[in-house]
Amino acid sequence: MADAKHFKYIILGGGVAGGYAAREFSKLGLNPGELAIISKEAVAPYERPALSKAYLFPQGAARLPGFHVCVGSGGERLLPEWYTEKGIELILSTEIVKVDLASKTLTSASSTNFTYDVLIIATGSTVIRLSDFGVQGANANNIFYLREIDDADKLVAAIQAKKDGKAVIVGGGYIGLECAAALRINNLDVTMVYPEPWCSKYPFMSTIGSLLAPVTAVKLKDGRVLDADIVVVGVGAKPLVTLFKGQVEEEKGGIKTDGFFKTNVSGVYAVGDVATFPMKMYNEIRRVEHVDHSRKSAEQAVKAIKANEEGKTIEEYDYLPFFYSRSFDLSWQFYGDNVGDTILFGDSDPASAKPKFGSYWIKDSKIVGAFLESGSPDENKAIAKVAKVQPPVQDLELLKKEGLAFASKI
Ligand code: FDA
Ligand code: NAD
Repeated sequence: MADAKHFKYIILGGGVAGGYAAREFSKLGLNPGELAIISKEAVAPYERPALSKAYLFPQGAARLPGFHVCVGSGGERLLPEWYTEKGIELILSTEIVKVDLASKTLTSASSTNFTYDVLIIATGSTVIRLSDFGVQGANANNIFYLREIDDADKLVAAIQAKKDGKAVIVGGGYIGLECAAALRINNLDVTMVYPEPWCSKYPFMSTIGSLLAPVTAVKLKDGRVLDADIVVVGVGAKPLVTLFKGQVEEEKGGIKTDGFFKTNVSGVYAVGDVATFPMKMYNEIRRVEHVDHSRKSAEQAVKAIKANEEGKTIEEYDYLPFFYSRSFDLSWQFYGDNVGDTILFGDSDPASAKPKFGSYWIKDSKIVGAFLESGSPDENKAIAKVAKVQPPVQDLELLKKEGLAFASKI
């Protein structure tokens, strides 16, 4: 293609996985001009989790360039200059609107064509909108979603404009809980609305009856009306795979990959939120929407690409699921699989000065998952090991009594 810009490697998506993949390329050897990252965001890759936490704080808020990747995992902070120094082309504010995997061509909204030898798809997820369930008034002003930095900036402006106002949070998942905490810290009066008794996933349904434009209240299906100056919606995310429909194999809503994040199309890899991959530990194909996996899958794909060029092989991805969250003074970590029976241990009394508690998930008489609130780095390492080793347990009462001490012995 005469008018196309050609790169040996293109990473489509400049989010968490995109940034970590770039670092891995640079570690393993990259010539200037070989790699481009194309992103519709206007900023270099950053640690997305900051957006629902310190980015929303009234004082000492996180701002770029403070949280560019790879600070979230204790690594070097890759400022825009880093990409220039390495000869990596950062093509920002550029949305790819058409992909042709057969001719290895990406086309941007402004009709620029890019061609590649190897493509890494790292397009992440997009928010599920209230309009996706046909909720009336879903496009009213002051309804906020949170995925990208532009969304976070709009929410920050609303928080500042509605000081001491009322906020309604729709959704009791991660975004819901983390934003509820951040809005409370901003002194807003916060009400949360979600369909389950506690935060777990639920089939999508029109729980919210109507939302008025501009929003002044949220009306629930049962008729109750909640006043609101700001509505934050966190009702889930969906992987951005539409550009590739019919061109690449999909499974469980994501792009199907192997233990090296290779798709069924030669030279095309998919990483992060969009990838469905073999979770070796559980002998299952899964998709994971969490930051630890987006980093590690990106690194694995680049290692596999470079090894392939040298005719070498690497170990298959063997991922131990790891999720975390922080709200107010609370900070938890979870490792493994949350299936089977649960045992709660420790001090979960909210009146305690510093409650420390946890939970084990037991399936087929083995511990398969572990959660800990307020763990030290060593304690978190211990629960990670339990989830990896999957020790057998017979006496559940004893396990409850031993609690964290059980993990420390493994
Ligand atoms: P990510 O979404 O990071 O990046 C995708 C990039 O591709 C974006 O820059 C997007 O603009 C770009 N893109 C998409 N389509 C494009 C196109 N057609 N053309 C050009 N560019 C395109 N996880 C966790 O474990 N702990 C946590 O605390 C949090 N907290 C958290 C907070 C918030 C607010 C969100 C939204 C998410 C989290 N997560 C999280 C989840 C975590 O951030 C998520 O799993 C990773 O960011 C996924 O990384 P990816 O690189 O796959 O997608
Ligand atoms: P989520 O899937 O975690 O939670 C969605 C919530 O919305 C659930 O409580 C669900 O029941 C509720 N819901 C669904 N439909 C509803 C309706 N009609 N009315 C009311 N409630 C409804 O999704 P999220 O919190 O929006 O997060 C989006 C993405 O960001 C996910 O990929 C998530 O993993 C990621 N994220 C992760 C973290 C973290 O790991 N700490 C933090 C923030 C975001």
